[in-house]
Amino acid sequence: MSSSEDTLSDLQELTRSERRAGFVERGNRLYQAPTITSPYPLPVDTPENERLTILHNVLTELRANTFGPVADVLSPQEGQSKSVVDLACGIGEWVMEMAREYPHVTFHGLDVVSIATREPEANVYFEIHDIGDQTRFSDASVDLVHARSVFMTVRDYNVVVQEAARILKPGGLFLSGEWGPFVSFTPDVPEIEGENPDVHVPGLYRFYQAIRTACKDKLGIVTEGIFTIKPVWSRIPEWLESTGAFKDITPHHLYVPIGDWSPDPTYNRLGNFNRTAMVKFIESARDFLLSSGMTEAEFEDMYTQATVEINHNRTGIPGVRSIYYMVEARKT
Ligand SMILES: C[S@@+](CC[C@H](N)C(=O)[O-])C[C@H]1O[C@@H](n2cnc3c(N)ncnc32)[C@H](O)[C@@H]1O
Repeated sequence: MSSSEDTLSDLQELTRSERRAGFVERGNRLYQAPTITSPYPLPVDTPENERLTILHNVLTELRANTFGPVADVLSPQEGQSKSVVDLACGIGEWVMEMAREYPHVTFHGLDVVSIATREPEANVYFEIHDIGDQTRFSDASVDLVHARSVFMTVRDYNVVVQEAARILKPGGLFLSGEWGPFVSFTPDVPEIEGENPDVHVPGLYRFYQAIRTACKDKLGIVTEGIFTIKPVWSRIPEWLESTGAFKDITPHHLYVPIGDWSPDPTYNRLGNFNRTAMVKFIESARDFLLSSGMTEAEFEDMYTQATVEINHNRTGIPGVRSIYYMVEARKT
């Protein structure tokens, strides 16, 4: 194979029953079918997609959906076709926005279930693929690989790193974005600087602890170093480094308030959205946590405590925020 387009013609439109076969209903939520081997534990239904849309919009406003030399890497070049692969693309908002911005580039969104729009832009292809397996793209054929919020989709994130290293062209760009699986306090609110989430937001703290434990014990996801508060950076840069296939590995991070406590009008508004996303996240994780050993009573107690914290004095607890980690790296 010589280009990423070579196997595109092998793809077939899913039939209605094939699309349906990708899902199973539990409680009143939809999950990936048990035939799918991905460890992913969260629902793939409308309420969960609403949460992901909120987060997508927050990141768009913070200009965190693209970073690094994207414009440079995707700029038109005589005699060269350009392509982008989005791993675990979900409903495909990132892909669709990028496809409108870069109409000369071909975008491929991969996910284990068929939740992306069936009427994409002309330069977009959505396909069913488990990113735990090698993709159909040939070596050194892709200009940009994007992977956002994919942590629970594979047991070992190195699979993602290795595949990006294989399919990226020399000079190609890898972009990763992951929400830190814990809450932190902002240093911008001096009176609570250095405060511990376990003391001041015990409900949220308990929730994230439970998620981390369940990821490790139930799903067998490698969590060491990723799901810890320190060091500040996750291990993604280290793993990229260890392949020897990347250069200019640059981590960034940003904070988003949980609640509308921020004096900054933008962060105040985004914090309000993030509050909604946070409640939806806890609700989406219900089945996962119950099936990992938490009792109904423990879940309800944690949920009540976390929502009280999120809505404390209508604003949420001042200073409490989520952290979003980004990494950019160029293929050597
Ligand atoms: C948290 S969502 C992130 C979606 C999107 N990247 C975003 O940022 O909005 C995780 C997505 O990964 C998909 N997924 C789970 N396991 C997968 C796998 N092994 N391969 C491909 N997609 C997977 C799920 O169906 C879901 O759409």
